[in-house]
Amino acid sequence: MSSTDSLIYVIFGASGDLTKRKLIPALYSLYIQKLLPERFILLGVSRSMITTEDFREGMKSAINEFKEIDDASGIDEFTAKLHYTAIQFDNVSAYFTLKQELDTLRSQFQIGGNTVFYMSTPPSLYGIIPRHLAAVGLHQQDDGWKRLIIEKPFGYDLESAIKLKNLLLNDWDEGQLFRIDHYLGKETVQNLLVTRFSNGMFEPLWNRNYIHHVEITSAESIGVEKRGGYFDSSGSLRDMVQNHLLQVAALTAMEPPSSLDPSAIRNEILKVLQSLRPIRREDVRNSAIRGQYVSSTVKGKAIKGYREEEGVDPDSLTETFAALKFYIDNWRWGGVPFYIRTGKRMPTRVTEVVIHFKPTPHFLFSGHGYRQAWNQLVIRIQPDEGILLKFGMKTPGAGFEVQNVNMDFHYKDLSNQRIPSAYERLIFDSINGDATLFARTEELLEAWKFLAPVIEAWKNEHEVPLYGYPAGTWGPEQADDLIEGKEMTWRYPCKNLADDGIYCEL
Ligand code: BG6
Repeated sequence: MSSTDSLIYVIFGASGDLTKRKLIPALYSLYIQKLLPERFILLGVSRSMITTEDFREGMKSAINEFKEIDDASGIDEFTAKLHYTAIQFDNVSAYFTLKQELDTLRSQFQIGGNTVFYMSTPPSLYGIIPRHLAAVGLHQQDDGWKRLIIEKPFGYDLESAIKLKNLLLNDWDEGQLFRIDHYLGKETVQNLLVTRFSNGMFEPLWNRNYIHHVEITSAESIGVEKRGGYFDSSGSLRDMVQNHLLQVAALTAMEPPSSLDPSAIRNEILKVLQSLRPIRREDVRNSAIRGQYVSSTVKGKAIKGYREEEGVDPDSLTETFAALKFYIDNWRWGGVPFYIRTGKRMPTRVTEVVIHFKPTPHFLFSGHGYRQAWNQLVIRIQPDEGILLKFGMKTPGAGFEVQNVNMDFHYKDLSNQRIPSAYERLIFDSINGDATLFARTEELLEAWKFLAPVIEAWKNEHEVPLYGYPAGTWGPEQADDLIEGKEMTWRYPCKNLADDGIYCEL
């Protein structure tokens, strides 16, 4: 394989939202930091009949609007490297033309064969485009490497994911496939590994003997925005749990890898997913709760319900909130419940992993006006990246009054260095052939297999309730019933501002 001194980056779905919000701003940021190959050009491909000039103009505004880096000095130079071509994705002959176009660009800009094909299209095209690329030989690596980046969702359920896997592997090698899960590109998600495996004090406690339960929340205050069409055929379980949140759970629960080698890390992630205790069909109701936001008024502002959103079926039964309880059946985690919760139109945007430690075997200070709060380690993935340890301290003065205090580390205090976006990191890794932070097919298949009974029940058993929750709340209160233990609830990060300093946006 040749080294990466030159590269053509091809984005399918170039006129879409992801390209403008994430991909182009991330590529520009890499360009400014001189992290792209010296000879680099990008070809945007999609159905829209626009010119290269239109594309460049659109991408200029996108770089300014969705700014990744505070340096606009290279925008003109960078956008001059962008080209555009319109094709009909399902028309094989269009790929011959595409191949010729790539050859022309290569010779014009002295670029070798190294090529990234980024699938940023509707998921229904993830099988079709790669097959057509292969049909014209664009997967062959004799003149340089060829890599395919595939956005999530990888399939719609277990069966379709297996089909997609087989379809891709007919023409492409596993080593050419990069299945992107942008949560793995988040600095703080990677920091889970560092927190656990570079400190002597957390890991000895990181097991069933000391941990009562683990809670993973990913809340968004926004609704479905302009993605109602996509979201309505997906729902929170497929959109967030199957990929991002099960990956975060796996990183939280995995055994130490033998090295930082990509396959060593990915093997450990896979083992966790393989150890997920299957949810029996009859247990779905007690293990999973779904909800859908309904209209409400928050701080005097009317907020639409999900069914009123553009592109959404007015009778939709798609969930915009999903909460799940599950177990990992292995030696480390036997009997420890894990909880995952995600939702749109919640009071704030926050993603966090909360490790709830068991209480002390005997509490000496009861009767001193204090109910023992259990120690929690909160790993804040976003937006205010950091780690918060909550524990009891003596209130100054006579007696033994105990109060809860926070030991709070904010990532932004670590250095002045900016935190690169997840896409920036993952695009960089894919150009350099590092697949550590990309999901392996087996991982995704395990995740689909695990969720299959819930997906089935939510689709076919209409008596499984879909609870409405007013926009701006933490989802249906029935989700609290999932949590085992007397008076146990989810953590509500912005309910008590004094606690953690997180504001409710809605
Ligand atoms: C995407 C989902 O993968 O992740 C979106 O499709 C969701 O629905 C988004 O809004 C959340 O990502 P982040 O990085 O903002 O937490």
